[in-house]
Amino acid sequence: MIIQPASHLKGTLSIPGDKSISHRSIMFGSIAKGTTKIHNFLMGDDCLSTIECFRKLGIDIEMHNDHILVHGKGLHGLEPAAEILDCGNSGTTTRLISGILAGQPFTSTLTGDASIQKRPMKRIIEPLRQMHAAIEGKDDNFCPLTISPSTLEGICYTSPVASAQVKSCVLLAGLYANTPTTVCEPALSRDHTERMLSAFGAIIERKDKCVTIYPNPELEAMEVVVPGDISSAAFFMVAGLIVPNSKLILQNVGINPTRRGILDALLAMGGRITCFNERELCGEPVCDMIIESSDLHGITIEGDIIPTMIDEIPAFAVAALFAHGTTIIKDAKELRVKESNRIDTMCHELGKMGAVIRPLEDGMIIEGNATLHGAILESYDDHRIAMSLAVAALKATTPSQILNSECIRISYPHFFEHLKAVSTEA
Ligand code: S3P
Repeated sequence: MIIQPASHLKGTLSIPGDKSISHRSIMFGSIAKGTTKIHNFLMGDDCLSTIECFRKLGIDIEMHNDHILVHGKGLHGLEPAAEILDCGNSGTTTRLISGILAGQPFTSTLTGDASIQKRPMKRIIEPLRQMHAAIEGKDDNFCPLTISPSTLEGICYTSPVASAQVKSCVLLAGLYANTPTTVCEPALSRDHTERMLSAFGAIIERKDKCVTIYPNPELEAMEVVVPGDISSAAFFMVAGLIVPNSKLILQNVGINPTRRGILDALLAMGGRITCFNERELCGEPVCDMIIESSDLHGITIEGDIIPTMIDEIPAFAVAALFAHGTTIIKDAKELRVKESNRIDTMCHELGKMGAVIRPLEDGMIIEGNATLHGAILESYDDHRIAMSLAVAALKATTPSQILNSECIRISYPHFFEHLKAVSTEA
């Protein structure tokens, strides 16, 4: 994909469905009784991987133009898959489905693409084994994972990482355990599992950073309307702030407190972002946003805000390049185990464009007031790297080329069309 420098951005975009919530709607719909109807489902490759896995587990899932129907068979209705479950590029599919499979009376094997095979699974293997799950992985840490039948015991697990995938995996296994299961985390990660699973009928209690689930609930099908994904909106939030003379309206953006860190961080930098039309959609807060070009200043982000914006840090780093002063990102070591090592990939590629950006073990130091030139940029097959670099390229003095940019299909298949629709070339 060739990205031309932009003179300004103008227009209105309807933000595609949230990836995390779309995954969960298929998973929970499959283990609930009855037909779950899903609107604004994200037709990205990751969510399609989840659909394919549950189809292989015997669930009939109908895809229509404007909705999806999941014909759920209840908590104990899944059937053994005839083949290996392919989770593609999706960490959420791999880790959440493992929790469900740990409770099944049949053996399953799951794997994914080259990136998924490098991502750490010890973080779910350990708590699942504490629950007496029979789970084996390559080198005890990687896909393929094989999960065999066992009798699960509830546990109280203190997770060393603030990870919604780990938390959700353990809670889903907890549905099938003999006794209640509690997960505590060092900082609150996204809580979509807790919100949606409760709406399906699970009994879940939260106390500070701990959440308890009670086993064997009656899960009932429901109608789900998926809010727009703030992780996808983030690219246009940053683009609208850094490209001069811009005004964008982003419709239907999810602003769940455990996801809105990017909004708070950009506001703290002086970003002119106005949320209006605040409402609730399926138990999730949502708003429309006006984004206007802004004079940003550098800030430090660290601690509890990091898990609430973990996927948006590559886009945030681009905003920091065009702020006055230095921006420091700390406590974000998790970036090293995402679809790519996002600390190294962002520093390397932005460095090619002339950015002054230094990697830290757990973050980055970014010098503002940057002048970027166009370059040939590598996506590392990481959708969020491709889109963050595209945003940086809007502010370069010459055009850039992004290699292997088709990976955006994972989370935002129409990203380049949306970008073209709102940008005017310099
Ligand atoms: C996700 C949780 C986060 C996030 C990922 C989606 C989820 O991962 O980075 O894109 O849907 O639960 P971790 O749980 O590894 O932090």
